[in-house]
Amino acid sequence: MKELIKKLVEISSPSGREDAIREVITQEIKDHVDEIKVDPLGSLIALKKGKSGKKLLFDAHMDEIGVVVTHVDDKGFLRIDMIGGVSPYRLLGARIIFETGAHGVVGVEGETMKQAGEIMKSLDFDHIYVDVGATSREEAEKLSPVGTFGTYDAGFIDLGSRLVSKAMDDRIACAILVQTIKELETPKDDVYFVFAVQEEVGLVGASVAAFDIMPDMAIAVDVTAGPDTPKSFKRMGFKLGGGPTIKIKDQASVSSSKVVSRLKEVADSRSIPTQYEVLIFGGTDARGYQTTGRGIPVGTVSVPTRYVHSPNEMVDYKDVLDSVRLLKALAEEGI
Ligand code: CO
Ligand code: ZN
Repeated sequence: MKELIKKLVEISSPSGREDAIREVITQEIKDHVDEIKVDPLGSLIALKKGKSGKKLLFDAHMDEIGVVVTHVDDKGFLRIDMIGGVSPYRLLGARIIFETGAHGVVGVEGETMKQAGEIMKSLDFDHIYVDVGATSREEAEKLSPVGTFGTYDAGFIDLGSRLVSKAMDDRIACAILVQTIKELETPKDDVYFVFAVQEEVGLVGASVAAFDIMPDMAIAVDVTAGPDTPKSFKRMGFKLGGGPTIKIKDQASVSSSKVVSRLKEVADSRSIPTQYEVLIFGGTDARGYQTTGRGIPVGTVSVPTRYVHSPNEMVDYKDVLDSVRLLKALAEEGI
């Protein structure tokens, strides 16, 4: 499965620019599903038919965080804004790949030592720029004009049990859904797989994807924090390698208690390790489904992930494999 993960994480597709990743996922799954379509916003929706008459939905968002060019100056330096939650601190020193194919590096202002120190203390997008190697406005505008989208430019690293990439959020879940589609032979319920657009800019794709499906249960699959590093968030105890987490709540939604207990039940029945997760910040596409139509009971299955929204997001491979087992178990046992 590592090959599939590498393939999906290395694609650059920020929110609103999901064409490249959707094409690759389509090729991976099209021969393994009963129906497949793209909705008006660009989310990819596939169905594997069951026999119970009930509907289960699994979601992974295809988009990743990124940046957009807002201004090109006389000397050819770019100013940027964020697409989704991008920290300027994480951007410093990073490489950017733009949708035009242009590459850039991120620099920071500072005319005196004192000013440079003050800027670093409260770094924001007003004080950073991208250098695409241009020496004039004209040259830079050819490479990446105003409105051009970009993402971190960082390759996949296989550390053995741990895997690192710029876009584990949320391509690791895309890989989990693709693998589940390939392995799932006899779903009990109709299982819808939604590869949603624009999660990072406000759960946009998920908010409408289920409008004419109205599943009986929707599960978002996403990354969560990895608070098992030195002096990390001490109010959260889940860890990498402890199994996928079953979310109790985060800042955006409270999981349906029925969904939580059903997930725990099927996991335990197949000896799949899981951890409960109360995330003290953040949110997932679960919120988008929860408030669709007359309302949909939701839950989230997460992969514990260190350094989320950095160029080097880290997951544990065993958690990924156990997430596939968990989704398969629920699809086979029914909701
Ligand atoms: Co994210
Ligand atoms: Zn995510």
